[in-house]
Formats: sequence, structure tokens, C-alpha cells
Amino acid sequence: MASPRIVLISGCSTGIGLHTALHLANDAEKRFKVYATMRNLEKKTSLEEEGKERLGKTLVIMCMDVSCDESVKSVVEEIIAKEGKIDVLVNNAGVGCVAPLECMTMEHIKQMFDVNFFGSVRLIQAVLPGMKARQDGYIVNVSSIFGITGGPFNDMYSAAKFAMGGLTESLAPVLKQFNIRISLVEPGPVVTSFISNLKGMVSQVDLSTADKKSIQLMQSVIATMTELTANEGQKSEEIAETIKEILLSAKPHIRYLTNKTYGVDEANSKLSDLTGDKLVEVLEKRFFPK
Ligand SMILES: NC(=O)c1ccc[n+]([C@@H]2O[C@H](COP(=O)([O-])OP(=O)(O)OC[C@H]3O[C@@H](n4cnc5c(N)ncnc54)[C@H](OP(=O)(O)O)[C@@H]3O)[C@@H](O)[C@H]2O)c1
Repeated sequence: MASPRIVLISGCSTGIGLHTALHLANDAEKRFKVYATMRNLEKKTSLEEEGKERLGKTLVIMCMDVSCDESVKSVVEEIIAKEGKIDVLVNNAGVGCVAPLECMTMEHIKQMFDVNFFGSVRLIQAVLPGMKARQDGYIVNVSSIFGITGGPFNDMYSAAKFAMGGLTESLAPVLKQFNIRISLVEPGPVVTSFISNLKGMVSQVDLSTADKKSIQLMQSVIATMTELTANEGQKSEEIAETIKEILLSAKPHIRYLTNKTYGVDEANSKLSDLTGDKLVEVLEKRFFPK
């Protein structure tokens, strides 16, 4: 049997990261050994419980905060020292925030970019030299439908996911020369703690300065996102399966829109009308129906 591919995943305490770690570690053919990382090891119980059969074999849990240079560097170095390489990087860690832009502090905005964008940049920088030297590797960036189209009141989240798209598309033709595949996974709503965390984030924003109309519109967006997640949300396991399919494909696509019902109209309206006007109409209709 060939030795397993060494996989590093960020943000595995819950949701998509946790299920991707489990799905790959549980592979019947044992094709993957997963280093599942999380910023707070106090949250490792769920993964430990659900993956207890695989712990120490195809599943290893480590602490890593993607917003910290030192944390990323030491985790990557430790895995390479132990395994000699990292074959696969899954940039999954992410945080959302729904708020009127003018109510967010610059510190908060920078934090959002630090996790959602610079965290992935740090990790890609750390794994690339080894992948280039071996002329092999897979990088999967978990983005969002809001990385293709804007999301009302999701300004900073969407901006960071757009940045991830620009990074991925720019790297793709270069990395191809080194036999390194890079893909974006772009889910619509997924049933995870992401939406409830969003409500927590709103409480961190100073809404006292916001005008009444913005608050009403923002509440309409939160209600729509909650409803979409309940009605059309995918399970984390489905996203995990897409990620596994990418890793098993010799020539994966650059973009994977995982939700076949939500987001397709939005993406098509963007591509079919280069003025951008049609997309804004579609977003308006979706989030602020008359
Ligand atoms: N759920 C959706 O509807 C949806 C849709 C499209 C895309 N996505 C994307 O999917 C990815 C996973 O989200 P999810 O839905 O699974 O949400 P989730 O359950 O809230 O998981 C987010 C993960 O990111 C981790 N994280 C946050 N900041 C971090 C940091 N500084 N360092 C390391 N880890 C950090 C969280 O850790 P803690 O537990 O410590 O906070 C958690 O493990 C994100 O990139 C998100 O943007 C989600």
C-alpha cells in the first residue's frame, strides 16, 4: 500500500473543518493522514470523540492559530520534521461578520482579513517551498459563494473571500508548472455554527451609531441567511466529500460551487452581464424583496 498523503487542515474544531478531517481520516483505503488543527485545543472533544478510532493513526490533532505567524510556522515545521512533507493543505478556518461597514472598527476589519485571507497566505507560503521542490501538492481554499458575488452587509467577509479568489487564480497557472493543484471550494449556506457565530459577531459591532434603515436592512439579511441555511443549507459532510473528490482528481477544477440551488443564479448573472447591474438586481431581489 502506498504511504498516505499528509494533509494539513485549519479550523477543525467544528463544521466543515471537523468533517473534512474525519472524512479523510476515515478513508477506507487509508490514503490520507490528517493533521487537524484548531486554535483552541479545549474544543478538541468533538473531533477526538468522533475520530477516536483513527487518533494517532490517520488523525492527529494540533493547535494552530492561522492569524499568528509563529503558530503557523511551528506547526508546518513540526509536521515536516515528522513526516518529511505536506502533500495537501486545506485552508478552511474562517469567520463571518454581518454589519453596516461604518459600524466596524478598523481593528475588527483587520482581524477578519487576518483569519479569512492572511491566514491562508501564511499557510500557503509555508507549504509551497516543499511542494515546489517535490513538484507535487494540492491546496484547497475554502471560500464561499460570497467569494464570487458580494453579500449585502457581509462586506469584509466577502472582500476577504474575493481576495482569496484573486490569490488562487493568480497562483494557479504558476503552480501548474510545478504540478501543484489549487482549487477554491465555494459553498452557499452550510449548516454549521457559522450563522450562530455571526449573531455573536453582530454583538461585537457598535450598532449605536447606525441609522435605523441600515439596521432594518441588516436584520432582513440575517433573516434571509438564516432561512436559506435552514431550507437550502448543505451539510458539512457534503463539503468534505467535495474536498475529497478534489484530492482524488488528477486535474481538479479551480472553482467548485457546491450548492446546486443557491448561488447559481447569482454567479450566472455576474458572468452574463459584465456591467454588474444584473447581479445587483438579483442580490436586491434576494435580500430586500419588496
Ligand atoms: N457555514 C456556511 O454557511 C459557509 C458558507 C460558505 C463558506 N463557509 C466557509 O467555510 C469555512 C468553515 O466554516 P464553517 O461553516 O465550518 O464554520 P464554523 O463551524 O464556525 O468553523 C470555523 C472554524 O474556523 C476556526 N477559526 C476561526 N478563527 C481561527 C483562527 N484564527 N485560527 C484557526 N482557526 C480559526 C474556528 O475555530 P473556533 O471554534 O476556535 O472559533 C472553527 O474551527 C470558513 O472558511 C467559511 O468562510 C461557510
